[in-house]
Amino acid sequence: MVTASAPVRGQMIYEGKAKKVYATDNAELCIVSYKDDATALNGLKKGQIAGKGAINNRVSNHLMRLLDRRGIPTHLVEELDERDTLVRRVAIVPLEVIVRNIAAGSLAKRLGIGEGVPMKRPVIEYCYKDDALGDPMVNDSHILAMGWATEAELELISTMALKINDILKEYLSGAGLTLVDFKLEFGRLPDGSIVLADEISPDTCRFWDANTGEKLDKDRFRRDLGGVEDAYGEIRARLLGGME
Ligand code: TMP
Repeated sequence: MVTASAPVRGQMIYEGKAKKVYATDNAELCIVSYKDDATALNGLKKGQIAGKGAINNRVSNHLMRLLDRRGIPTHLVEELDERDTLVRRVAIVPLEVIVRNIAAGSLAKRLGIGEGVPMKRPVIEYCYKDDALGDPMVNDSHILAMGWATEAELELISTMALKINDILKEYLSGAGLTLVDFKLEFGRLPDGSIVLADEISPDTCRFWDANTGEKLDKDRFRRDLGGVEDAYGEIRARLLGGME
């Protein structure tokens, strides 16, 4: 059973580009620790964004709590401190699930569409999580043929992703932000059920100021636009200001 009693931190079981994951004395729980490290271009560009780990931890937990209240099951158990969060241990479905409302980034480039062009309906894309392959884009047919998810899981994941988009779009618009696109990851609990995992933060979303179009996300780092820390701080202030 999952309990919120103080977990004892165990060995590091995984280190990713932006987070470390530790086992705990409860086999069903682990601790995610957010780092200030930033990478882009599939790891070719590396740097640090001061304070990013703490901001992403708080912002992601805030958005996951919102989604949980609206019926989306997530891995979140409890925020432990500035950078660390207790989560349910999941087996990650090896897919990046990208939802797009406005053409930007790789879609704008691939299809030759100007960045900022709204689309008639949200687009869902899947990428197979494999750094060595550069996370190639795949479709439903690949996912089922390779057994990365079952048909029922994929149906659930796509339905959840679109519902998450609706909830976040509306919520963020109240904070003066346009949700351009974002990336989700899902995991399986020991009983096989699917929950939202990983993070939702300025690292994994494109947030544009609704009035000025200013980019308030990791594109400032990816594209050397400057003002990276200020952009992350602005997202924290708009979403959590008054709550800290
Ligand atoms: P893209 O336009 O570069 O494909 O990115 C689409 C969205 O997904 C954008 O909000 C950034 C996010 N994303 C990640 O979080 N991790 C990734 O590895 C990639 C490629 C995109």
